[in-house]
Amino acid sequence: MLKHAPEPASAATRLRPSLFAAVRNFAYRAAGIDLQEGKQLMVAARLWKRARAHGFPTADDYFAAVQRDPGGALEIDLIDALTTNFTSFFREPAHFEFLRARILPQLRLRSSFPIWTAASSTGEEPYSIAVTLLEELGADAGRRARVLASDISTKVLDRASAGIYPEERFRSLPPDWRRRYLLRGTGEQAGNYRFRPEVRNLIQFQRINLMESLPLEDRFPLIFLRNIMIYFDRPTQARVIAALTEKLEPGGYLFLGHSESLNGISHQLDHIQVAIYRKPGEWGA
Ligand SMILES: C[S@@+](CC[C@H](N)C(=O)[O-])C[C@H]1O[C@@H](n2cnc3c(N)ncnc32)[C@H](O)[C@@H]1O
Repeated sequence: MLKHAPEPASAATRLRPSLFAAVRNFAYRAAGIDLQEGKQLMVAARLWKRARAHGFPTADDYFAAVQRDPGGALEIDLIDALTTNFTSFFREPAHFEFLRARILPQLRLRSSFPIWTAASSTGEEPYSIAVTLLEELGADAGRRARVLASDISTKVLDRASAGIYPEERFRSLPPDWRRRYLLRGTGEQAGNYRFRPEVRNLIQFQRINLMESLPLEDRFPLIFLRNIMIYFDRPTQARVIAALTEKLEPGGYLFLGHSESLNGISHQLDHIQVAIYRKPGEWGA
């Protein structure tokens, strides 16, 4: 095991411009993430943390090893470290109200339908969708609906598929919601809650990098692509929207984050309301 060099007092000031440029290039190529100059501090801190975790004496040595391992565990680990995973249950609640009031009355007439959340982070978004489905469709949700939750980060997908969250994550939600959809942890899990199997069983987790060709046969009546476009530059946004438009059914909806829009990129979707877009065409049966 290599001895760790002590972390410099100010790692950011020690990140050579050429190393920052190389990491920036790596993040763009691997994940489409556009790390602006203002992200230097964040990049330096995360690079040092991963270098130390893997036993490398310097950030340069660590990054050189990442580059010798394209597609390997070191590369995936660094992508995990450079992505921003903030999320919460029922984030931007207007979308869940739109799903409940405008979309599910149509979808419930079908024998089956899939919903895709394409940057699902630690799972709060797909679990919020699954709970909305159970609230509206009851036991039928399990027979008819399926939620595909994908992300580039294997670390967040592992946490999401476990479905375990500390109690404070649920504070703003109705107490009877906890009783119906969660199991209280005991022993080592005291203070945590886990989603009940009927909620977890609605969701499938899969690593999908939106920069690569999409490994999906389905077309979806609804895709969540929320709070990820802000990390992409315009050409990347345009490419991702074109690829996801292909995966939408005619008449299908795309949700972006509330601070995101398709202004400035060419696309084929109709704007319905803030951060909600629809592909022209009729709903399938
Ligand atoms: C800020 S979170 C958004 C979570 C959730 N959609 C929400 O709105 O609360 C952004 C997520 O995008 C994921 N991400 C970044 N680049 C990606 C890519 N190229 N392909 C797929 N997911 C990516 C990150 O790993 C992160 O979990």
